[in-house]
Amino acid sequence: MNDMPQARAAAAFQAAFGHAPSLQVQAPGRVNLIGEHTDYNDGLVLPCAIDYRTVIVARPREDRLVRVAAADYDGAIDEYALDAPIERLEAPMWANYVRGVMRDLVERGLPVQGMDLAIAGDVPQGAGLSSSASLSVAVCRLFATLPGFEGLGPVDMALVAQRAENDFVGTKCGNMDQISSACGVQDHALKIDCRSLEVQPVPIPGNAAIMIFNSHVARGLVDSAYNTRREQCEAAARHFGLRALRDLDLATLAARAAELDPVVLRRARHVVTENARVEAAAKALAAGDLTRMGELMEASHASMRDDFEITVPAIDQLVGIVKSVVKTAGGVRMTGGGFGGCVVALVPHALVDAARDAVQQHYTAPNGSKATTYVCRAAAGAGVITA
Ligand code: GLA
Repeated sequence: MNDMPQARAAAAFQAAFGHAPSLQVQAPGRVNLIGEHTDYNDGLVLPCAIDYRTVIVARPREDRLVRVAAADYDGAIDEYALDAPIERLEAPMWANYVRGVMRDLVERGLPVQGMDLAIAGDVPQGAGLSSSASLSVAVCRLFATLPGFEGLGPVDMALVAQRAENDFVGTKCGNMDQISSACGVQDHALKIDCRSLEVQPVPIPGNAAIMIFNSHVARGLVDSAYNTRREQCEAAARHFGLRALRDLDLATLAARAAELDPVVLRRARHVVTENARVEAAAKALAAGDLTRMGELMEASHASMRDDFEITVPAIDQLVGIVKSVVKTAGGVRMTGGGFGGCVVALVPHALVDAARDAVQQHYTAPNGSKATTYVCRAAAGAGVITA
């Protein structure tokens, strides 16, 4: 575990406020093994929390003031009082994740009190590894340490964080990232039913490493493309008179395909087949069957490329390079919202170096960058740091 963020947060706290913090919490980022763009369709996902995280150190205040120092933004400070409504800022964006969560907690009638906070993280930003969800979940987890918050469980924290992102920050994300960060279990993936909010830990086979390759492809237009996909999915569900695409089966979709606009048909087909792949992947992972997992990840990537149309050529190339090393011994696919970001692979430990070397040798992003490779471990969810 990398303890750098903790040290940086503590140093920023001391520098900003001139005394030491009394509380320390962390919340991890996540990588999604399979189940993409299914969460907002009430569907199934199979992510895991990762050992890259946001750390917040803090000390409660006697008054109603909140002061937030951002170690990763040159110690910039956001300051406001809890007596007036908490407003959204035009900038900086990081401040809105803290403000949004605090406003939601206040609106729920919880006894939010004045606080000095300092934040630092090592989740790569803008890479599709949910650095923002880890920040908003960490803020929730911080307040959950206080008296009066005992009823706020991990799933509740995830929902507060999601609402802050949806309604305050203005990102129309689903609930996968926040649930992963709040509910992670060490060395396990989480099969999450994004409708019932049931979270089922699935052990990651001991012989498999989780590799993440950051393509460094800038995720341009990602918000508008994400929102368009959501609207297309909702249109398909509406057409069949269903609450969400979760409720559509492949036989019905195939039989009535001609009724749909061809693009909407492809979007719906991705979601319906992806939900089925998550069911199968959870079983394969639990059985330690990396070959089957690899087939499902390959099919997921093809579906994202051809039906959901959210991959880009550099990402397809990166997936191909890793696949040429891993072959049938594991799996690889794009992970996250799409249009760039990261590729995730489940790789037998013996092939980790070969996969890293192949990417180093054969991949270059359109902007000339090489990929960054992370070998990570499935981590526990948000919690208090006791050390
Ligand atoms: C982003 C969103 C998630 C999810 C994924 C796609 O990460 O924040 O809610 O929709 O995209 O699976």
